[in-house]
Amino acid sequence: MTTSIDQPGSMGPIGRPVERVDGRAKVTGQATYSAEWALPGMTYAVIVAAPSGPGRVVALDTRRAEAADGVLAVLSHLNARPQGTPHSQPTGFVAPMPDAVQVFSSPHVAYAGQPIAAVVAETLECAREGARLVEVRFDATTPAIDLEGRLSTAFPPDSILGEAPDGLRGDLADGVAAADISLDEIYTTAAQSHNPMEPHATTAVYKDGRLTLYDASQFVYGVKRMIADLVDLPPERVRVVCRYVGGAFGSKLHAWPHVTVAALAAMHVGRPVRLAVERRQMFGLVGFRPRTHQRIRLGAKRDGMLTAIAHDVTNQTSQASVYVESAAMATRMLYSCPNVAVTHRVVRLDTQTPTFQRGPGEAPGAMALECALDELAYRLGLDPLALRLKNYADRDEDKGRAWSSKELRACYEQAARRFGWDRRLPAPRSMRAGELLVGQGMATASYPALRAGASARVRFGADGALVQTASHDLGTGSYTIFSQVAAAALGLPIALVKVELGDTDLPFAPEAGGSQTAASVSVPLFVAATKVRKVLTALAVADAASPLYGAGEDAIAWGDGRLYLRDRPERGEAHGAILERSGKTHLEAEHTTKAGEDFEAFGHESYGMHAWGAQFAEVHVDPTLGTVRVTRMVGAFCGGTVLNARTARSQLLGGMAMGIGMALLEEVMRDVRQGRVVNASLGDYLVPVNADVPDIDVILVPEEDPYVNPLGIKGLGEVGIVGAGAAIANAVFHATGKRVREFPIMLEHLL
Ligand code: MOS
Repeated sequence: MTTSIDQPGSMGPIGRPVERVDGRAKVTGQATYSAEWALPGMTYAVIVAAPSGPGRVVALDTRRAEAADGVLAVLSHLNARPQGTPHSQPTGFVAPMPDAVQVFSSPHVAYAGQPIAAVVAETLECAREGARLVEVRFDATTPAIDLEGRLSTAFPPDSILGEAPDGLRGDLADGVAAADISLDEIYTTAAQSHNPMEPHATTAVYKDGRLTLYDASQFVYGVKRMIADLVDLPPERVRVVCRYVGGAFGSKLHAWPHVTVAALAAMHVGRPVRLAVERRQMFGLVGFRPRTHQRIRLGAKRDGMLTAIAHDVTNQTSQASVYVESAAMATRMLYSCPNVAVTHRVVRLDTQTPTFQRGPGEAPGAMALECALDELAYRLGLDPLALRLKNYADRDEDKGRAWSSKELRACYEQAARRFGWDRRLPAPRSMRAGELLVGQGMATASYPALRAGASARVRFGADGALVQTASHDLGTGSYTIFSQVAAAALGLPIALVKVELGDTDLPFAPEAGGSQTAASVSVPLFVAATKVRKVLTALAVADAASPLYGAGEDAIAWGDGRLYLRDRPERGEAHGAILERSGKTHLEAEHTTKAGEDFEAFGHESYGMHAWGAQFAEVHVDPTLGTVRVTRMVGAFCGGTVLNARTARSQLLGGMAMGIGMALLEEVMRDVRQGRVVNASLGDYLVPVNADVPDIDVILVPEEDPYVNPLGIKGLGEVGIVGAGAAIANAVFHATGKRVREFPIMLEHLL
């Protein structure tokens, strides 16, 4: 079975820069986040985290805590129920990692920040005081936390989302031998913490053998399956709800230990439990972007034609699970080159398991590859943009197939023009603004166009349409774009569409990650809405009392809540009137796409599918102090159909701002003796704030993709960060003549 869609004459509100439909609820405090559910009998849980790791809890004395005011229970390995293994996985790319969700299973501690106990109390203050009174005797051993120091222990992962960790085309040695100019350099990217504005939180309710979790999540169905397995409940007795998410960036794709702690606590005390993870705990308890060590080798002819590309990536993972940072996957296809070899390796360190963070793979990978290309351009005496254009890949040479669509050339051209790239003086240290050194750099961006199976239901009544799907709005704009998609299919004003998301009682939706939500969910939603439209049309043309009686379905147009004759728009009637005469209160339809079905129908095997972009950045560097300020950024992107120009721009702008963090600010730092994160606050772990973010110019380059899916959507959630940091790093080189290959770039690198 395949999904095809029946496009109306016009795509209606699709593409328009509609304001966020959930904006008012958010700014007036009406939007309920997971730590904000107010339930009768609420209790509060606080996690006691291991002070260092690895190690062993030699003695745990909970008597003083248990005797404290308001404390209801202290959970630990001494009394927690044994947990099952999360094995079932409903879909997608997030494989369950048992170590990430099993808690209190033994006195062994694998990493600093791992929960060793949790205190449940009548109030948050009582729980905190109880946590302070838990006495722990802890035997610590020295942690392995240094990636570079343990490169000799690196090993290949089994696979990267079904793909081999190593890839090769042509012959690398031949390519190197054929080169006139070559490069062989090491680049490193720092471990990063997602730090969404809304920390992780779970409110858990266990009643009548049923568990309900209000959980800050990118994947309610995934959390449901993982936790059901863990606490040994049939999945139908677990419900996960997440109406609003205050940012996630990958950190909420998987459940982390606090979700299990909240569930166990609710089952233990028999009352609702609220567990809000503290900001400082976010650094040691939930996943993070791992540090990478990347070796790039490039070879080129004197005219700039690439003869060889090798990209060897090693990233840190945990002792218990393997997370691969797929930083060289894009290298396989990004440029035209006959000889390409990539490898991925992992090193086990004593931390929690790392995970996907915005632009996973591509973002850290571009820091290395795109900076290396910049270096090569200087060695060749070529303009960095000209080098990219010289090696433009007109086909997916990795898989030997065409692109489903690729307006990257237009991205380069439009962004370069807007930026004023042609006025750049090529030599390093050649541009100044007063005392400050001015630098300009650029990079390429790409991110795969992922899609997964999803379901959506549309219920249509006289007062409008209700859209239901378990997908998520992470702040990305899903509520808004789904309103637009349903409104377009039904010919309704957006105000008459209500969208419900984030609840496992709603039809299935995949993880809201991998930039796949817009594409994956819009298609079944559009089809479900179209089914409703067809039924209503059929009712009208069969109804002698309708002005549309007897008309052919093709002659009927939809718009502004009414059906009318395409040729005679004055002849028609409102949806509600048709419904009312038919004696029905509402019409309902659901549609499900299966993972892979549009791949077959739309040629997944025969086309390479990616979103693309071109990033340009300007920096000012103070030559005395080494301080770097980003002064301008221009990014041009194409991702197929843009559903909402306003929320799409916002996604890309946010990604580019995060690129500033990657290039200049963000690094999780650990104490070498204890393994604990020492900069675990937003005062010490620096993310770009408004003062760091200049005017960012986002250009949406039109792109039609007839293959990726019936609506032509590729997704734009992650491509905005890819290459943004590399463009900045390249600008820093252009300003200073100093090539820093260790990110983030600190002022001490430049002095
Ligand atoms: Mo994205 S890192 O898959 O939320």
